[in-house]
Amino acid sequence: MTSTPRTRVLTGITTTGTPHLGNYVGAIRPTVQASRDLSTDGFYFLADYHALIKCDDPARIQRSTLEIAASWIASGLDTDKVTFYRQSDIPEIPELTWFLTCVTGKGVLNRAHAYKAAVDKNNAAGHDPDSDVSAGLFMYPVLMGADILMFKAHKVPVGRDQIQHIEMARDMASSFNHLYGEHFVLPEAVVEESVALLPGLDGRKMSKSYDNTIPLFAPAAQMRKQIAGILTDSKAPGEAKSTESSALFQIYQAFASAEETAALSKAYAEGIAWGDAKQVLFERIDREIAPMRDQYQELIHNPAKLDQILLAGADKARQMATPFIKELRHAVGLRALSSGSNTSTAKEAKVALPSFKQYREKDGQFYFKLVDAQGQLLLQSHGFASPKEAGQTIARLQTEGGTSVFELHHLLEPLSHEAQAVAAKNIEIIRSSVEKNNK
Ligand code: TRP
Repeated sequence: MTSTPRTRVLTGITTTGTPHLGNYVGAIRPTVQASRDLSTDGFYFLADYHALIKCDDPARIQRSTLEIAASWIASGLDTDKVTFYRQSDIPEIPELTWFLTCVTGKGVLNRAHAYKAAVDKNNAAGHDPDSDVSAGLFMYPVLMGADILMFKAHKVPVGRDQIQHIEMARDMASSFNHLYGEHFVLPEAVVEESVALLPGLDGRKMSKSYDNTIPLFAPAAQMRKQIAGILTDSKAPGEAKSTESSALFQIYQAFASAEETAALSKAYAEGIAWGDAKQVLFERIDREIAPMRDQYQELIHNPAKLDQILLAGADKARQMATPFIKELRHAVGLRALSSGSNTSTAKEAKVALPSFKQYREKDGQFYFKLVDAQGQLLLQSHGFASPKEAGQTIARLQTEGGTSVFELHHLLEPLSHEAQAVAAKNIEIIRSSVEKNNK
């Protein structure tokens, strides 16, 4: 009996900064919850190759990798149940990136949002369109495609801004499958409506780029101070307040139960003072985060232990990646020269073509023959003085097609007329398939 494959869920976090409440609500907490669902296999990783695209500060990348790994584990990720690793520990990923690069249209990458935004900004400023745009930024979606396709992920939880990248990964997978046979699973983006976007201190999306974040594992006193700095309107205590477009309320909602949220909504209507509302928010967040702080601190101060966990994760990931990249290398034609070519790819499977075999006889001369897929002899050459002459004759047959069988009859052993006609037809098939491949 064959069992249906379990759903594979995969996502990564780019290691360019200190994890904040937005990362926690949007990525860390949902993946920790998903990792407890025993009907799925989770693949979670630190996207440090992606970090190089945005950040040229080595110490920052190292520190961020440490902090994000510690945050994920302290938040409850069970690294024995999931595959938890660092992208740069998987050398198969850059190799797959190259294979995908070769099946991705440059025009498709021209339309990627992040690249287009950079070009638009340059154009608006009257600069060269590609000014300050690295080839890494341009290739960002292909590296991400490799992350996803390497582990045959079915579902990829991401923010709304990443949906386009998942669609591109799907396109890369179908192009590759079309050319080389069914190797990749087509992934799907999963966007959780309920964890949409957490606003930051100033009401815009909480993001490193706006410098409006609240770090996830800041000491309690610092978190309280930052929460006190959340932008509000200037309504006095006792005045009714609106929950709509209140960043404070939206952040509260991301941590509170439905009842707790309803209670705060009531307090807003009854004119709760902003200072008191901030205290309520701090206490609610702290209730969830406080129990994790100790483990976070312990991990941060024990980087060797994190290295060990990540390397064990990479080992587990590579048990899948290493044989898979081997299969893909073979599929595209990066093969041992001695390995038979009558296996596995879509094209070859469709038409089992006859083939030429060159060899040397005991008389010291060089010969070739044409045999069909079943090993039936279709054509037999005379002896040639050198392998080069034999090879040139094969090349002429292959490029000129079936009629040359009759023109070159003096170089061929006289098989029956019928056999020659069969050979001519087969050479015609070879010629047109070579031509198609070259298109
Ligand atoms: N690009 C993602 C982000 O910035 C991070 C990422 C890299 C990722 N590779 C991935 C997410 C693969 C999901 C799957 O948020």
